[in-house]
Amino acid sequence: MSDQPQLTAEEHDRIRRMRWWHEAKFGLFIHWGLYSVIGRHEWAMEVEGIPVAEYEQLATRFTPKPHAARDWARLARRAGMKYMVMTTKHHEGFCLFDTQYTDYCAPKRACGRDLVAEYVEAARAEGLRVGFYYSLMDWHHPDGARCAQDEAARKRFVEYIHGQVRELCTNYGTLDILWYDVAWPLDADGWESAKMNRMVRELQPDIILNNRSRLPEDFSTPEQHIHAEAAGRAWEACMTMNESWGYHQSDDAWKTPKQIIRNLVTCARDGGNYLLNIGPKPDGSIPEPSIQILNAVGAWIDRNGETIYGAERCGVTSSLFANFTRKGNTLYVHAHFWPGESWSIAGLKTEVKSARLLRTGQSVAFEQTPFHVRLTGLPADAPDDPATVLALECASVPEQDMLAVRTGMPRGTV
Ligand code: GLC
Repeated sequence: MSDQPQLTAEEHDRIRRMRWWHEAKFGLFIHWGLYSVIGRHEWAMEVEGIPVAEYEQLATRFTPKPHAARDWARLARRAGMKYMVMTTKHHEGFCLFDTQYTDYCAPKRACGRDLVAEYVEAARAEGLRVGFYYSLMDWHHPDGARCAQDEAARKRFVEYIHGQVRELCTNYGTLDILWYDVAWPLDADGWESAKMNRMVRELQPDIILNNRSRLPEDFSTPEQHIHAEAAGRAWEACMTMNESWGYHQSDDAWKTPKQIIRNLVTCARDGGNYLLNIGPKPDGSIPEPSIQILNAVGAWIDRNGETIYGAERCGVTSSLFANFTRKGNTLYVHAHFWPGESWSIAGLKTEVKSARLLRTGQSVAFEQTPFHVRLTGLPADAPDDPATVLALECASVPEQDMLAVRTGMPRGTV
């Protein structure tokens, strides 16, 4: 008899639906909307207090080149990403898809095309899974704020939101992810989230839902930081490459490829996914720094992807110059600050059978004591960039006990 708790049918189904997602680890987030026309952050409408009638005019200038999404999808694939999530409607309320509920949408304004359809086609052509971001909060809809005080407005607004979610889940074939955002100003009862998500699952039985309709659903969404959920709960850290989600012309606070790789490794180590954002320009082109960063990340993943995809939660975390991922009994040591010819990992509670440099396959000499594994005879300079990976084959699942190191290490005399 196993002492594992029995899984419910719902939990079994979640495991089945989310298998590809856990394996995938890395996705592209895309924030695109009218805000790109002014190039000043996707919250500009609210934070600069731009009146609806004035903001709406941006739709006359939003005329992206056809099929811009093909470049995003190609770049995502090159970067080693396995799925994409695009804003079908952000807080500004402008819909990139064709909808019967409003004419404030790309097909019925200057753009004249269904940008969500183009996006879906582009993602599929590159073999990427398809996710839709959809903001519940809506600064444009007349009921978007008053729905919290006025029951008739709430009813109308919920009908609008559910209606659009139904359209998104009906008109674009199989969807892989629905990524709600900002549920202000209602709670889950106000949004009728349980009913909405039941509808979504009826229309898309394999879909994966995030937790932002104010129900936990399939995964949590730490934003701009990495925070692991307890084992058994899925999570995805979403992050910008600079400091804004939408195209913000003068935001030059770009992360380096190394920072991004380190973040991806941390997510993979702690059982999560990493959803990294681009904010295309109004014509749909990708800001040049994002292209360069993603190309560099992709080149590293080409050489080291086996340490990321399908990685399992890893109980080894402590080092001053390296991070870790794990698959079965294999521990991958990702040295991002290369310490040179000899260095150690402390507190491994398993026997190391062999060590090798992943990039060259060259085997690495080591000695193991109860306190550390000391690797020797390594190159003086980092063999890979921005991080060099060593694969340590262990006798069992590698765990690390730093307290045992602190309390048990032989001491000197006073
Ligand atoms: C936030 C912001 C938003 C962005 C999102 C991504 O909630 O309001 O602009 O789309 O996070 O996670």
